Amino acid sequence: MESQKSQNIVWHRTNITKKDREKLLNQKGALIWFTGLSGSGKSTVASALEQRLFELGKLTYLLDGDNIRHGLNSDLGFSIKDRKENIRRIGEVSKLFVDAGVIVIASFISPLKEDRNNVRNLLERNFVEIYVDCPLDICERRDPKGLYKKARKGEIKDFTGIYSPYEKPENPEITIHTNSQSIDECVETILRYLKKKFL
Ligand code: ADX
Repeated sequence: MESQKSQNIVWHRTNITKKDREKLLNQKGALIWFTGLSGSGKSTVASALEQRLFELGKLTYLLDGDNIRHGLNSDLGFSIKDRKENIRRIGEVSKLFVDAGVIVIASFISPLKEDRNNVRNLLERNFVEIYVDCPLDICERRDPKGLYKKARKGEIKDFTGIYSPYEKPENPEITIHTNSQSIDECVETILRYLKKKFL
């Protein structure tokens, strides 16, 4: 039997609101979204940022491509359709965390503009897009997981940047250049922005 979409469901308002929770936590919920090629440095900068925010007394939660694909999205592969569903689910999960008052740091290749913009629209003003800019040849030279090598041998048919597209963001709030800036410089750039807008 084909699964049916839910019907007869009604949205319940809750007594405690996002604002109440934010007051309790003394922070504003936000989604900080890292996008970029595999090997561009998303996860490295994302965890360094998380460390700094934690030291500033902020409640954060890091969502990372490889980890989420072990659990929530273990049923998804790397076709365009699956990547779209991957990002859609992450967007919805992030929205719940942000509603809880948490600062979510998401690190996904998220290669398609449309999917990132859907998440942006879902989160409204609580969304910060960070483009982790690093040329493909540098990512390939770094190849921390040996995946570019495998892709070049034809063992990964839909690898991003080689056989599958990556669309650069047009108007990200922040761009960092991991081939010319240190991790600390990247984190400082992001923190400066967050301090003005969210912290
Ligand atoms: S996304 O395209 O759907 O946003 P996601 O960020 O969840 O990708 O996962 C990317 C990670 O999966 C990469 O860092 C890499 O370790 C691994 N991976 C495995 N196969 C592929 C592939 N075909 N393309 C890109 N990354 C892949």
